[in-house]
Amino acid sequence: MQNAYNVAHRKDDALIDDLARDGIAYVPFFPLGGFNPLQSSILSDVAERLGRTPMQVALAWLLCRAPNILLIPGTSSVAHLRENVAAAGLELPKDAITALDGIAARDR
Ligand SMILES: NC(=O)c1ccc[n+]([C@@H]2O[C@H](COP(=O)([O-])OP(=O)(O)OC[C@H]3O[C@@H](n4cnc5c(N)ncnc54)[C@H](OP(=O)(O)O)[C@@H]3O)[C@@H](O)[C@H]2O)c1
Repeated sequence: MQNAYNVAHRKDDALIDDLARDGIAYVPFFPLGGFNPLQSSILSDVAERLGRTPMQVALAWLLCRAPNILLIPGTSSVAHLRENVAAAGLELPKDAITALDGIAARDR
């Protein structure tokens, strides 16, 4: 299943959990915000604390959100590609996840 989803836009939260229970993969498009790149002071604060970039944190959040999430972040830059691949090795501490969950809560 492919649909728009990222740390700031989480309309598919319940659907993702249902798909995970049924073993169906979910590929979020616009994982970094697409045409409107993600911008959030919370994201920037967490990234600074972990010594990573905001986009790496946004990707790491998606990877830890559910086991059925697969990522294909779009980029035309080799540097960004390397940065994005490295995000797969980033484990977010619990307090960082709690803070990041607050980004979408502001929208609700
Ligand atoms: N099914 C659908 O309807 C649908 C719709 C849209 C997209 N998609 C698919 O979803 C995937 C991702 O979508 P997308 O590429 O539109 O959105 P995206 O991955 O959220 O955003 C891509 C944008 O993020 C920038 N970016 C990537 N890595 C970055 C980094 N490390 N730091 C800063 N900026 C970074 C890119 O710029 P640079 O080029 O400068 O890195 C590009 O402008 C693609 O596979 C696409 O085909 C599917």
